Amino acid sequence: MSFEKEKKIFDDIYNGINGYNLSHNGRSAMAPEDTKFLIYGEASFAELLTIIEDSGIKNELNGLTTFCDLGSGTGMCLIGTALICPYFNRIIGVEIVPTLCESSQKSIQQLAKVNEKLAAKIQIINGNFLKLNFAEISLSPDVLFMHYPMHGGGVEDLYLQLEEKFRSELKSGTIIISAIRKLSDLKTFPEVLPSKQIQCKYGNVTIFFHKKL
Ligand SMILES: C[S@@+](CC[C@H](N)C(=O)[O-])C[C@H]1O[C@@H](n2cnc3c(N)ncnc32)[C@H](O)[C@@H]1O
Repeated sequence: MSFEKEKKIFDDIYNGINGYNLSHNGRSAMAPEDTKFLIYGEASFAELLTIIEDSGIKNELNGLTTFCDLGSGTGMCLIGTALICPYFNRIIGVEIVPTLCESSQKSIQQLAKVNEKLAAKIQIINGNFLKLNFAEISLSPDVLFMHYPMHGGGVEDLYLQLEEKFRSELKSGTIIISAIRKLSDLKTFPEVLPSKQIQCKYGNVTIFFHKKL
């Protein structure tokens, strides 16, 4: 499938939106200690297509209905996923930076003008994903996406905290798609596919595909 029509919808929605500036402005209004891991960068439509369509993960998504992006930026991954994966009926983004959430809401409204049904599936939570309970039925994802392009400075702790939450709160069978870093507890979160390299705006990124046992 070419997804040309979907790419045009995506490009029209995101034309002129500068997530780097929005993130910068939003973060400068937050307390410095709260902005440590808020590096911005988003996967493009083409990158999402590679992750979902070319990696083989699509075979694992059969029957799954709830997708969640942990740190959803301006919502590119949410809108892209809604366009590429019509089988998801709930698409949830969690984003802590208010300016990025506001921009996402506007983009969802733009999507609603061309496809109200797809737009109605998407929900944004403005908050810290470390403070959410993924076991709650209103969130409880089947597929989680995570992408944090930073190194050092304690980022290992962020991943360990997330893995701890995933161990206790995610249901068995949840697919976790992790950009850049492989999860460390491979007994609980074995890889279901070989990792895939994609070319992002900021360089080569490896995508890891895990499934919670
Ligand atoms: C690199 S961007 C990824 C955007 C999008 N998921 C993608 O891959 O295209 C990471 C996002 O996570 C957000 N973020 C980081 N830590 C967060 C937290 N604890 N709670 C909510 N959002 C967070 C950042 O503000 C940033 O917008």
